[in-house]
Amino acid sequence: MRLLRAYWHIFKSVGGAMKAGRQNDLIFRYFVLETLDNLGFFEYLKQPRAYGEILAEFGFSDGEYTQEIFNTLLHDSDNVIVQNIGTYTVNPEVPLPEIESILASTDSRLHFMSQMAESLSDNILDRLQENDIGVTEIFERDDHSVVKMFDGIMDTSIYSAVRKACFAYLTSEERRWLRDKKLIEIGCGSGRETAEIWLHLGGETSITGVDPVPGMLKLAQDNFSELLKETDPTHPPLTVKNKPVFKEGSATQLPFDDNSFDASFWAFMLHWTADPKMAIREAVRVVRPGGLIFGSQAFKPYVNQYLDLVVRSSRNSFGFFWREEYIKWFAEEGLEIDIATPAGIIRVTNK
Ligand SMILES: C[S@@+](CC[C@H](N)C(=O)[O-])C[C@H]1O[C@@H](n2cnc3c(N)ncnc32)[C@H](O)[C@@H]1O
Repeated sequence: MRLLRAYWHIFKSVGGAMKAGRQNDLIFRYFVLETLDNLGFFEYLKQPRAYGEILAEFGFSDGEYTQEIFNTLLHDSDNVIVQNIGTYTVNPEVPLPEIESILASTDSRLHFMSQMAESLSDNILDRLQENDIGVTEIFERDDHSVVKMFDGIMDTSIYSAVRKACFAYLTSEERRWLRDKKLIEIGCGSGRETAEIWLHLGGETSITGVDPVPGMLKLAQDNFSELLKETDPTHPPLTVKNKPVFKEGSATQLPFDDNSFDASFWAFMLHWTADPKMAIREAVRVVRPGGLIFGSQAFKPYVNQYLDLVVRSSRNSFGFFWREEYIKWFAEEGLEIDIATPAGIIRVTNK
């Protein structure tokens, strides 16, 4: 029943989740290819070129990231380049995609993905050329352009649906139990998620939002009461006692003592961290024994390689991982994770 409730929220917001996944592939693929095309990469590969020659032409480093871009392009079912006796050329049989036709066949509720891909794809070139760009710098570059873009996206129905699904996946006892407890929200972003969590919990839970990006925290701090009003004009009163606290920090090094909270929540966050396993260890450390760890994290293979490459354009982002890794990292903390749906809704009781 809990599982059905969780699925229902996700299907209602994006239609068939698997179909949406394929459409996302195409959007992120388009922006990776467009970044290379703008450099003249495919024009250059009209002649056969050796790997080293290509790196020298475009100033790419011979790192893992560059190799993975080449491998992804080569092994894609629609491979835009081919390899032959140590050289690469464009594949004349696979034309470069056009964003207009991709969007025309994509559910409009997913068009925000194009905005996300476009605004993050600038970093791909930096990463290929080993100009080290970290998460905070990426999010705050160009007058906080990525912070602003994400702030809009975090307001879309899919983000909200995933949050609802996380709560739907709890038992009703757990939902009741959470009221009057202390909850840490890890990777709280611009506070939109915080406002929704606050409302799900009737304004009765003490929430501490943590995020490493100062621009995100400023939006959360400045706008929280407005966000509450926007989300539910009839919300319970916001008081000094139930007002969330926002604090700068990374999931991989939470600035709190052991057992400081009764519960933790995260969504769309672990792939941005440098070390998701460490982030899980930290959540387990700050949540007291018997407390609840819940939230969501999409994993492979439901997340496509191109989105992964876009996220990993940040030097300190791990990117997406496999369901098995997620289960293993919790198991290493002695916890058996209950995990559901391609959106990776989870709940686990801390030991
Ligand atoms: C896609 S946003 C999601 C925000 C929020 N969880 C939501 O769903 O509305 C990803 C968030 O993860 C944050 N983030 C990035 N690296 C992080 C880290 N090491 N620890 C915690 N949060 C991180 C980003 O700053 C950003 O706010």
